[in-house]
Amino acid sequence: MPATTTAPRRSSSTASTLAINGGTPVSASPVPFMSTGLTEQDIQAAIVVLRSGMLRAAKKCEELETRIAQISGSNHAMTCANGTCALQLAYEPLFKPGDDVLVPAWSYIATVSMVVARGGNPIFVDADPETMQIDVADAARRLTRNTTAIAATHLYGCPVDIDGVQLLAGKHGLKVIYDAAQSHLATYNGKGIGAFGDAVTYSFYATKNLATGEGGMVTCNDDSLARQIKLLRSHGETEKYTHEQVGYNYRMNDIAGAIGCSRLDRLEAQTQKRRDAAAKYDRIIGGIDGLSAPKTTAGATPVYHLYVARFDPSRFTCTRDEFVKALGAEGVPTAVHYPRSLTHQPAFSRLIKDHPPVADSLSKRVFALPMHHNLTDEHFRIVGEAISKVASAYRA
Ligand SMILES: Cc1ncc(COP(=O)(O)O)c(C=O)c1O
Repeated sequence: MPATTTAPRRSSSTASTLAINGGTPVSASPVPFMSTGLTEQDIQAAIVVLRSGMLRAAKKCEELETRIAQISGSNHAMTCANGTCALQLAYEPLFKPGDDVLVPAWSYIATVSMVVARGGNPIFVDADPETMQIDVADAARRLTRNTTAIAATHLYGCPVDIDGVQLLAGKHGLKVIYDAAQSHLATYNGKGIGAFGDAVTYSFYATKNLATGEGGMVTCNDDSLARQIKLLRSHGETEKYTHEQVGYNYRMNDIAGAIGCSRLDRLEAQTQKRRDAAAKYDRIIGGIDGLSAPKTTAGATPVYHLYVARFDPSRFTCTRDEFVKALGAEGVPTAVHYPRSLTHQPAFSRLIKDHPPVADSLSKRVFALPMHHNLTDEHFRIVGEAISKVASAYRA
């Protein structure tokens, strides 16, 4: 089917024609929301490790480290147990308990909860309403005399305004940690995102673009920081049973390492398919008054871990939640990342001074469409027709 057919068809549906109200759905079989299937190649790679008996972090973790360091443009890459551990490993050497740390109000909780676990005081920064990434101008306004670091998430697979963050950090002597859990292979100004900041963290959780089940990584460019992270990762051990400092066991294992290496072979091609899917969604969403496509940060090349559209409640007679429920009934599953901004998380209630307004409003507006490398022209047709049908039925 030619790409032009993915533009939404005009429809004049009413609420009574919606599947949610008993009408015929656009598709009886839902579009798969994600596709994380292992291939035979991945299974064989894991079996080779199992047969070797070498289950701990070994050659396969090292191979993954070498390859991701090279792809991401960083000098060092350290695998670890998961993306949350990666944040802890990066934060511990880069700021002290009691320091103020600028953090996004709009992100997954781990970016901030690990600041709190380190004893830092999170200073919640608002999001840019178009890119949904951390708003660097708001970060500058919220700086305190005690601010020593900024933790910024490359959210949904799109890099933040790295030039802006680095400029702010350079001016005020801040350490910079980028949370790239959702952004493997993303680039900024033509360079891998591992080239920027003091440390970059990644997750290989089961649903991530590069998934090993559980797993994570820290990349950095400074030799001494890399050494500290390696020590922290493995009980501060410098030689067998000699521990230079207190640390953790945050190591990955070679089964996960082998799966990661095997999947990495396909990641670039899969990422391109995500970008192609995003371009088709941009056309669908762009044709509907009251829906907005995600805007990419200038200079960034995103990898679309998620494709997150925004819903303008003033243009419809329903809420975002009613809209996505109706889409689901038509055969288009969606998800909300996230239903609360971080300042509304009960876990942070004692730390909150205000609720940054853009992050608050995003929690009522965003919804993610199915995004993966196995979407077909038929899937795009279903998404286009369903969105057009639901938007028309709920038009204000
Ligand atoms: C932005 C972000 N940071 C950190 C994490 C934590 O990674 P993990 O689940 O591997 O601990 C995630 C996982 O969803 C994430 O999306």
